[in-house]
Amino acid sequence: MPKRTLEGDAVVQDDVQSGCDEGNWFQAEKHRSEIRSFLRGPGNSERFAMIDLFGASGQMSKRWRKAGWDAFAYDIKTSKAHDVTSADGFWALCSAGKRLMTNGLIFGGPPCSLYVWISKSVHKRSEDNAFVGDTGLYKVRMSNRIVANMCVFLQELSECKDFYTVIEQPSSSAMFKMKVTSSLAKQLEMERVWTWMGLFGHELPKATILTGNLPSLPTLRRVLTNASRKQIKNRQKKTGGAKFYTRDADGKVTGNKSLQNTAAYTAEFCTAVYKAWAKDLKAN
Ligand SMILES: C[S@@+](CC[C@H](N)C(=O)[O-])C[C@H]1O[C@@H](n2cnc3c(N)ncnc32)[C@H](O)[C@@H]1O
Repeated sequence: MPKRTLEGDAVVQDDVQSGCDEGNWFQAEKHRSEIRSFLRGPGNSERFAMIDLFGASGQMSKRWRKAGWDAFAYDIKTSKAHDVTSADGFWALCSAGKRLMTNGLIFGGPPCSLYVWISKSVHKRSEDNAFVGDTGLYKVRMSNRIVANMCVFLQELSECKDFYTVIEQPSSSAMFKMKVTSSLAKQLEMERVWTWMGLFGHELPKATILTGNLPSLPTLRRVLTNASRKQIKNRQKKTGGAKFYTRDADGKVTGNKSLQNTAAYTAEFCTAVYKAWAKDLKAN
């Protein structure tokens, strides 16, 4: 098995994917009027209560189904037809958006590998390049394309119906520093809530930022105390303490395969998101 290192593409191959050649990537921002007329056209319904965007584990949508709602999970890992970089994949997402009920939730966990601090030496996102990073790198361009298409989808859908959005990223992610994402946050009046996945039963502390416009989003805020950090460590010991990072003699930090598996949400987190949404649905 090839060594997985943050210096190469190998580490991100499971996180950022495209099923089509770069020349055929769908550039959603160039098709706004077409997208808007499609979203406004026939086929709208009140079917899905939530869209689990980039939800390979399907944990979030499962929580909605458990409560009796219909939900739609979209991820290239679970279906080749759900590739947001391809035209067909983008339109498939728009079709799901048309079937999102009024005040339904779109919960998105877009690929973060090429936005986070740990891979900064690869993506090189900084103020100097307006956080678009080293666009000489194919995977950086791909991660930018995925996020740009997600933004257009959410912006255009918001022009057609009322729904809530929450986007999850590790706290060190530079994703919301780009122009496309900050325009999205402004247009959808999204706020940022700092939380910790470890306080929702995750094996790692995982400092997380939730950016969204769900009125009850602040109920998902958590503060990590020394006592809770200890609790998480004890939990890690019990589960065998999977090794997520290695540090070599030069101090270079490398994430391994177990680290990528930690992207799946815990049942406790999904329940907390569900309850926040259900409360807002009732209130509105
Ligand atoms: C950080 S993970 C989110 C996982 C999520 N939290 C879950 O519970 O499954 C990012 C996801 O984006 C998906 N992804 C990457 N490139 C994609 C693309 N072009 N289209 C759709 N999904 C993509 C990956 O397969 C991965 O599951």
